[in-house]
Amino acid sequence: MLYDNHQRLINYVRLAVTDRCNLRCFYCMPEEGIDYVPKQELLSYEEMLRLVRLLASMGIEKLRITGGEPFVRRDMMDFLRNISQTPGLRQIHITTNGTTTASLVPELKVLGIRSINLSLDTLDEKRFWEITRRNEFKAVMDTFHALVEHGIDTKINAVVMEGKNIDDLVPMVELTERYPVSVRFIEEMPFNGEGSHYQVLNWHHRAILEHLQAHFPSLEKLPDPPNSTAYHYRVPGFKGNIGIIAAYTRTFCGSCNRIRITPQGMLKTCLYDSGVFNVRDLMRAEASDAQIRDTFLEALGNRAKDGWEAEKNRNFGIPVGESMSTIGG
Ligand code: 5AD
Ligand code: SF4
Repeated sequence: MLYDNHQRLINYVRLAVTDRCNLRCFYCMPEEGIDYVPKQELLSYEEMLRLVRLLASMGIEKLRITGGEPFVRRDMMDFLRNISQTPGLRQIHITTNGTTTASLVPELKVLGIRSINLSLDTLDEKRFWEITRRNEFKAVMDTFHALVEHGIDTKINAVVMEGKNIDDLVPMVELTERYPVSVRFIEEMPFNGEGSHYQVLNWHHRAILEHLQAHFPSLEKLPDPPNSTAYHYRVPGFKGNIGIIAAYTRTFCGSCNRIRITPQGMLKTCLYDSGVFNVRDLMRAEASDAQIRDTFLEALGNRAKDGWEAEKNRNFGIPVGESMSTIGG
């Protein structure tokens, strides 16, 4: 088993398989002028397979495939077929925007994908366009219904944005009345490719909770699973539940069990750090598995204790251009 220097068990890796996306969610990417990473700088599928096998042999049990939008990368399903055979890897999860996913759902079920996080910030078609700058609302809802139909554990990720989707919070809770899904409200973080939108974050996790409680006085707290980043609630009698994720306030670092690999192969031991070492460069320099393993162990022995410390350790703060699509959402 893998532990960091703060005795936290590390058993979860988030692998961003691409920085490309077919949407332009304003909290993630600028509308124009995006510099995508040149193809040869992305980890190849072979490199990702080797990396995941190695990490699984070290104690990583859970993998999340994320991006960018994973399904815009060509041959993604082939990769999933391969990676689902990794010895030691117990769970594969995927985060997707759902625009091209509906027809893939039956095979994702067969492959044993444990859960899907669907990025969806509004149930209103017009607001969807305002937020994502693309007209794909219906395609995403098709994916939602396909997931529910096939009984794949589904979480909806909704970033809470002042002046944009506050009117959606209540309808999104209402979605859990009919559907056994988890709707998770996420504090907006300053990783949008353009720098922070706000001086102060007004819609932090407590404000979100108060807003929900005002509309659903019977809202009750549920126990949070170990290592969960969300505070869980439900409206009694509803089939699904609600999560609130303090992604900016960073209340969950004490039990953080995750590391991230960026599309270029950079290891991040915290969402808020600037990257520790590049595993792609090691592989391309013919490093052995043992050498790569040792480099990971050293990095995990030097992990910041929380997201505030990780942010402080960066020489120049969070660069304005940083985006969740290049970090791994
Ligand atoms: N703040 C919070 N969450 C974000 N995501 C992307 N950008 C941000 C941001 N600036 C989340 C979205 C999406 C996932 C890929 O990352 O919820 O579901
Ligand atoms: Fe694409 Fe997800 Fe970023 Fe939206 S948040 S632009 S869907 S990667």
